[in-house]
Amino acid sequence: MSVDQNSAHGPVGHEFESHFPESGAVDYSDQSTNIGETTLEEMRQIAERYPQPRSALLPMLHLVQSVDGRISPAGIEACAEVLGITPAQVSGVATFYTMYKRRPAGRHHVGVCTTALCAVMGGDYLLEQAEQRLGIHEGETTPDGAVSLERIECNAACDFAPVMMVNWEFMDNMTPEKADALLDDLVAGREVHSTRGATITSWREAERVLAGFPDGRADEGPTAGPASLLGLDIARERGWKAPDVPPKTATDEAEEQK
Ligand code: FES
Repeated sequence: MSVDQNSAHGPVGHEFESHFPESGAVDYSDQSTNIGETTLEEMRQIAERYPQPRSALLPMLHLVQSVDGRISPAGIEACAEVLGITPAQVSGVATFYTMYKRRPAGRHHVGVCTTALCAVMGGDYLLEQAEQRLGIHEGETTPDGAVSLERIECNAACDFAPVMMVNWEFMDNMTPEKADALLDDLVAGREVHSTRGATITSWREAERVLAGFPDGRADEGPTAGPASLLGLDIARERGWKAPDVPPKTATDEAEEQK
């Protein structure tokens, strides 16, 4: 898409470049799958957790990724069958969200945040450096299947910018040196920990947790770091607190009954 050089906003203009190059369709040329009766039974278990079974689609797609390493055609068919909806409806959801991969992700999936605050703190540089270190571009997986790389949007960790993610675990306050060491460890298969404490398992194992099958590691590491708690500490020091909530009036209660 060309941008009007004489736009009212000034002389801007370059070819539009999508940061979501894999936002296309599911890859139907690859029909391989590991989905069997065990996965189908787990899909039924997920569906039973919701009053409306189709609400289970998002975690079911994570389960597909944990088993097949991507959103596979067989995974789409299985979700549709369990939920009683059409494969097109499943595919429409699976291709909407960038967390669902249409091509196989690596054993570890690395994200580099390049949204505003991380960008200011060097996120774009970290992404470029990761591409060079791994020899791939964003949206690709290394030939040995070790690592896939993605440019990600804000992960609500701006107070630790610039951040990277490994299998959706945070790597806070990254520097070029720390990023290189992290990627080298992942490629070499060495044990890695999130800067918040969690042991990095694999992308597929993380996907299984997102499907609602806990791995018992949820409490590894702190729930919040010092940068996130700074405001609270300052408020305590100064005796600040939120205003009291006014008592409910009869009108409030009448509104709530509606
Ligand atoms: S901008 Fe990167 S986490 Fe918010």
